[in-house]
Amino acid sequence: MDARLAGKSVLVVGAGASAPGWGIGRAVTAQFVREGARVLAVDVEPDRLEETARLIADEGGACQTAVADSLSLPDMERAVQGCVAAFGRIDVLQHNVGGGGPGGVLETSEAEWRRLIDLNLTSAFIVAKAALPAMLDAGGAITFISSVAAFRPVAGSSPAYHAAKAGVVQLARVIALQHAAQGVRVNCILPGYVDTPEMRRRHAARFGAGRVEEIMQRRAATIPSGRAASVWDIAHAAVFLASDEARQISGTEIVIDGTQTLQSAPPYLPPG
Ligand SMILES: NC(=O)c1ccc[n+]([C@@H]2O[C@H](COP(=O)([O-])OP(=O)(O)OC[C@H]3O[C@@H](n4cnc5c(N)ncnc54)[C@H](O)[C@@H]3O)[C@@H](O)[C@H]2O)c1
Repeated sequence: MDARLAGKSVLVVGAGASAPGWGIGRAVTAQFVREGARVLAVDVEPDRLEETARLIADEGGACQTAVADSLSLPDMERAVQGCVAAFGRIDVLQHNVGGGGPGGVLETSEAEWRRLIDLNLTSAFIVAKAALPAMLDAGGAITFISSVAAFRPVAGSSPAYHAAKAGVVQLARVIALQHAAQGVRVNCILPGYVDTPEMRRRHAARFGAGRVEEIMQRRAATIPSGRAASVWDIAHAAVFLASDEARQISGTEIVIDGTQTLQSAPPYLPPG
């Protein structure tokens, strides 16, 4: 079978992982390379980025890297220019930057609210603003990682995370409509509970390192499919949305949650 992204030039923003191992951005980057794309991987943390490049090199692939902050428009404009300089154009922009925090409104400081809105939503706006001018002539695909928290309260995540992820969905829909005639597609992936190093780190911080496996299993048992998503479940959806197979798909969302959010009475944990 032909590589599904052969000939595509891809910019991945948030290509590392906050804790050691395969995070979503790292897995997406590796899967893009496996599918034949030329990838410029960007992250704000040089060590995390190097680890992504090393893991890809270990399996015989290669990606280019650039350290840049997705909250800085000049940084992202440089990253886009770097992608165009290296590969001639940018066909795909994949945005993975994001993260949550615990607590309800009462426990969330104003500073923490602004930090999470910036990390999840403003970042998506800035990378799209930087990349769109380079996509308007030839078209392209933009994919944001949102969350099922965009439309359903989920346990253990703050109101700011929910609000920001909902904002990402509407941001994507509006850009999709505004630039459809120019051949730009914009979609979101909405993961439910994903087994990531960062999720495990958060469980360890909250419940203790010795209870991580138990907590993962208890959370997975609340999902009708009986399992958390793996980072590769997310990566495969990202490849599809980036590929020409999805050429008529724009302004929409792929939910990857094993029917977690279809339940009529989802288990809800108090803020914490
Ligand atoms: N793990 C889950 O269950 C789950 C569920 C739904 C959605 N998500 C979303 O998936 C995405 C990835 O999750 P993850 O657990 O793999 O995250 P992660 O924290 O492991 O990886 C995020 C990467 O983004 C980078 N980053 C952070 N700020 C940046 C900035 N300003 N500029 C450039 N890079 C920056 C980090 O250094 C890190 O390498 C996030 O948007 C998250 O909200 C995760």
